[in-house]
Amino acid sequence: MNMTTTEEDKPSQKLDRKSVHRDSVGILSIEGVRLDHLADAVGTPFYAYSSRAITNAYQDFRSALGPDIGICYAVKANGNLSIIALLAELGCGMDIVSEGELQRVVAAGARRDGVVFSGVGKARAEIEAALAAGIHQFNVESVAELELISAVAASHGVEAPVALRVNPDIDALSHDKISTGRKGDKFGISIDEIASLYPRASAMHGIRLVGLATHIGSQITDLEPYRKAYKRIAGLTRHLRDLGQSVTRLDLGGGIGIDYGSGFKLDLRDFASVIRETVGDLNAELTVEPGRRLVGEAGVLVAEVLYSKPHADFDIVIIDAAMNDLLRPAMYNAVHPAETVSPTACRPRKCRIVGPVCESSDAFGSFDHLPELSSGDLVAFLAAGAYGASMSSTYNARPLIPEVLVSDGQFAVIRRRQPVEDLLALERNPEWHSASSGSEFGVKAG
Ligand code: LLP
Repeated sequence: MNMTTTEEDKPSQKLDRKSVHRDSVGILSIEGVRLDHLADAVGTPFYAYSSRAITNAYQDFRSALGPDIGICYAVKANGNLSIIALLAELGCGMDIVSEGELQRVVAAGARRDGVVFSGVGKARAEIEAALAAGIHQFNVESVAELELISAVAASHGVEAPVALRVNPDIDALSHDKISTGRKGDKFGISIDEIASLYPRASAMHGIRLVGLATHIGSQITDLEPYRKAYKRIAGLTRHLRDLGQSVTRLDLGGGIGIDYGSGFKLDLRDFASVIRETVGDLNAELTVEPGRRLVGEAGVLVAEVLYSKPHADFDIVIIDAAMNDLLRPAMYNAVHPAETVSPTACRPRKCRIVGPVCESSDAFGSFDHLPELSSGDLVAFLAAGAYGASMSSTYNARPLIPEVLVSDGQFAVIRRRQPVEDLLALERNPEWHSASSGSEFGVKAG
């Protein structure tokens, strides 16, 4: 791995060196596999992930938290079956929010009894599927949901292990759209209601009440909100125990931020200290639910420059990836660090990188450290392993792009490019449509 530190390399100083590095000739690579070679193999755009970076991220959590705190991966961050399987093999449990994610976890071979089911709107069929699978715990977010789980479990003659998700009224100091623990947010049950609900819940048929859960938001870069929230959970736990209630499990949620180019992220040992300080003496089974921190920095999105439109003092650079592939810039104004895959002799030129989708918000940001870009150049967006592929869509009839997993010099396509025919094949013409003699449009799934 070439880690020279010349002036030209400065932007690369922010690269997470565990996942992306420049090889001896300056080509951006993952675990020894050149991203330009991957582009030749699978076409652009594509996602690539480093197995080693994911493994390291998990081991970082494990060593910071010690052996006794459970780790459930928030599958929504990246639900690719191979990513789930990799984390499951390392011993990680899973945090899911839908029956689809349950099916992913089962298909990937992860343990069902290591699954926590979060989410504000579990439908009856999803509750039934989770009960049948024998999951570890439901994190329940409303009285109405609790009542439905009670009814469904009782009708099947089983008991659902339930933790009540507490809304502790804490601002996670993150982006508004990913803050979940403030009073009035749709998530959890208000902390003021829990003391009266808990004894009622523990007496319900079909419910085995095991404890409390919380999750205050995502991309959190300040420990204080965690400290405040966990102190409230600790206070509530003591109060409930004083009332004679049994509180054996505390699920502390996820949200631990990563480095999107600022050079800063929370230290997991400090996070672990906050846990120990606040809830460590309660003698409860503790779990955390990280998503982004396990996979975010392990992934890149690689795209090819299609065109460049020169303006007076900057270029608009149009690439072949778009907001349907990586929604975070359009949705949260997020900027993922950008790097050219190959070094070029061109001088830096200010540019605004955009995608081909017909929306002004289809833009990846403005950059002034990149060399002048032209057609055919490859650009990589870093820290794209979480909420990248998993939030992608087929807007503008753009099929889902490939995902590639790299491990120590080898790579595998872990999701192939979606044939556009697969999109069309789901659709049917109504029988009454005069122009059609039937319901088929004459497309075959690829
Ligand atoms: N647990 C629960 C109940 C959650 O709702 C979430 C994320 C997590 C755990 C994992 O949070 P993490 O450790 O990944 O921050 N699409 C947004 C992020 C949405 C997060 C939703 N919930 C983004 O791209 O930034």
